[in-house]
Amino acid sequence: RGAPPTVIVIFGASGDLTSRKLIPALYNLGLDNLLPRDFHLIGYGRKPIPDEDFRNDSEAALKEFSRRPLSDELWKHLRPNISYHAGGYDDLKAFESLREKLLAIEKEVGRDVQFLFYISTPPSVFKPILENLGASGLAKHGEESDLASKVIIEKPFGRDLATAQELNTIITNEFDEKQVYRIDHYLGKETVQDLMVLRFANSIFEPLWNRNYVECVQITVAENLGVGTRGGYYDQSGATRDMLQNHTMQLLALTAMEPPVSLSAEDIRDEKVKLLKAIQPMKTGPDGDVVRAQYGEGLIDGERVPAYMQEKDIPATSCTETFAALRMSIDNWRWQGVPFYLRSGKRLARRVSEIAIQFKQASGSLFSDPARFDLASNTLVIQIQPDEGVTLLMNSKIPGLETRTQPVKMHFRYATTFGSNTPEAYERLILDAMVGDSTLFIRGDETETSWKLYTPILDHWAECGRKGLDSYTSGSWGPLAADRLLWEGKHEWRRAGP
Ligand code: BG6
Repeated sequence: RGAPPTVIVIFGASGDLTSRKLIPALYNLGLDNLLPRDFHLIGYGRKPIPDEDFRNDSEAALKEFSRRPLSDELWKHLRPNISYHAGGYDDLKAFESLREKLLAIEKEVGRDVQFLFYISTPPSVFKPILENLGASGLAKHGEESDLASKVIIEKPFGRDLATAQELNTIITNEFDEKQVYRIDHYLGKETVQDLMVLRFANSIFEPLWNRNYVECVQITVAENLGVGTRGGYYDQSGATRDMLQNHTMQLLALTAMEPPVSLSAEDIRDEKVKLLKAIQPMKTGPDGDVVRAQYGEGLIDGERVPAYMQEKDIPATSCTETFAALRMSIDNWRWQGVPFYLRSGKRLARRVSEIAIQFKQASGSLFSDPARFDLASNTLVIQIQPDEGVTLLMNSKIPGLETRTQPVKMHFRYATTFGSNTPEAYERLILDAMVGDSTLFIRGDETETSWKLYTPILDHWAECGRKGLDSYTSGSWGPLAADRLLWEGKHEWRRAGP
């Protein structure tokens, strides 16, 4: 997959994401010979940093965060092509001088070069960056040569429907939708990409993948980390905006969508949007479909950890949820009547993301005596991370002269089958953007459709303040209210994990 000569400009270059993920991802693409021969990286930020210092910082980031060790040969080739451009995000002059720099690189390369702008800043400066990319002529660069500029944008894409629409308008004032790559790093995870293969390249699952056979679907995205040093950001966001509206919804869309007519980006994204449109509005209030809670003190790996309200940068009035659980109904032919339960939170019992498809009980009464037969619902668990794999839970006879049963597990583990040298999500996503494949990125209408579902809930919570905000012990699986959400359907949360 050859990428054309490319300059990547990272806005927010001194941020955490750049050193932890972006620079290591680019470097690892280089190790796999997937960077174009003419490749340049420019960090852009407000703080003045000499080129040499930025190169040293990048080298340090690689040593700390790259999944493979530093190779002198590759680094010798890449290092001189890394530089830094200091400027304000609302300073058109700085964008004009950036353009001069980019055109000089293009001249030196001697052929057309694509400019890829990676916006990894806080959302408050998305607008001036996008507008200045437009005003300086950078957004339109390369249109005639088929190497039109591209823009990659990190979440959050707005904080509700109105702000998402506003952001989409600002983006499309300067760029065509086909130049835009809205990133959700969950789509770059191998296991998430494998969802389509699992569903549509195997004939055994699809006939069962509907309301006739599926009892319920549970999607868990759990972390045991707290907010750490990100309290300032997180308190403005909360579990719903940080995880559910985006990452968890992507898992849901890929699990529940109809088969696309082809593997093209538009066909797949059309199906995801169709699915999101079929999700019914969720009810708020005491017997509603949504639960929110904040973590209290507790034990994680045997260590006492503080409550959310005691974390750094959390205001005393905070009513931000660190956990949310939802019950969704999808009103379409395939899923009518099948509840989808979603939950995500920080400081939960363990880090695990999984999709569990729970099938209906076998019919008939042959094995229905609970005193004699221990039966579990057949469940297909797609383990997104860690310990990536797929597990099928089924029932088996216990060897012996008596007929007794026990649930057993059939496991497929990526690490055992494929080894552990798997590319990181950002490697795949940056490469895709460089070669112009937008399949694993979010389309503008997709993000708006998702916000339409979440905005009334978030508005309701904002009105209620701390009223109705539950709490849970750090290291637990969340508040009791999240269990109650499933009782109506006579379901219970699985103990997530292998
Ligand atoms: C980010 C969230 O998008 O995803 C973080 O902002 C969260 O709060 C992270 O920790 C989780 O990503 P992963 O890949 O570790 O599951």
